[in-house]
Amino acid sequence: MTVPFLQATGITKRFGALTALRDVDLEINCGEVLALLGDNGAGKSTFIKILAGAHPQSDGELSVEGQPVTFSSPKDAAGCGIATIFQELALSENLSISENVFLGRELKRSVLGVPFLRRKAMRERVDGLLRELDAHISDPEATVGSLSGGQRQAVAICRALNLNAKLVIMDEPTAALAVAETRKVLQLTRRLAERGCAVVLISHNIADVFEVADRMVVFRRGRKVTERRKEATTPEEIVSLITGAHPDVRALEQNKP
Ligand SMILES: Nc1ncnc2c1ncn2[C@@H]1O[C@H](COP(=O)(O)OP(=O)(O)OP(=O)(O)O)[C@@H](O)[C@H]1O
Ligand SMILES: [Mg+2]
Repeated sequence: MTVPFLQATGITKRFGALTALRDVDLEINCGEVLALLGDNGAGKSTFIKILAGAHPQSDGELSVEGQPVTFSSPKDAAGCGIATIFQELALSENLSISENVFLGRELKRSVLGVPFLRRKAMRERVDGLLRELDAHISDPEATVGSLSGGQRQAVAICRALNLNAKLVIMDEPTAALAVAETRKVLQLTRRLAERGCAVVLISHNIADVFEVADRMVVFRRGRKVTERRKEATTPEEIVSLITGAHPDVRALEQNKP
């Protein structure tokens, strides 16, 4: 038995009187793309914000590589190798690709006590990452403002890899992208998993999910209703689980309204 990279047990999140998540158990494994699915308001973003250290859970435990962890801030989660790419991406348009990838953790050397940026080393590292991801971006010195939506996703993924992330969480990375760009980002997602990363992908696009995910987890009204391996389900079944038409969901909701 291998230990999952991350294990969530009984995760509950209350916002005042509203319970956004109720008793969620989930395992996240290295080398696997896990999709989180569910209708608007099902609790997907709340769940990943807990994994990212952006919200504390009201109840329940997280462990990373078998060790219990408590995240008081995104920094704590990052320290455990968890990188989250939010939909807004938070890249600086005026800076170059390599400056964005190294933002806040620039490589420096000191000459007679005066710090200098190691621009060449940073550029080479970013060039290597872009090549490894097969991102088709030739110049790490280009400004992010000149890139397409899909290329920006690639830069955000590079930044996560540069932090040595072991778990990369992506909240709707393809929502604003055209067809060809979406293909590229989905390929990048697969490549992250092949590199040994654990990947969590939130998407409303069932076709995208079936293209890249190994396992799918469906949230509904704050509960995890079920999970399925891709080969054991169909897009039709997943849709019925999301909408609540599936008999399993009906049974669950009759027992626990
Ligand atoms: N900071 C907050 N304060 C109060 N309620 C919140 C907060 N964040 C989320 N919620 C509530 O928690 C529930 C789950 O929201 P969440 O954003 O996790 O849904 P989601 O599954 O990500 O939906 P979507 O697909 O629309 O992004 C919703 O009812 C939402 O209104
Ligand atoms: Mg959301």
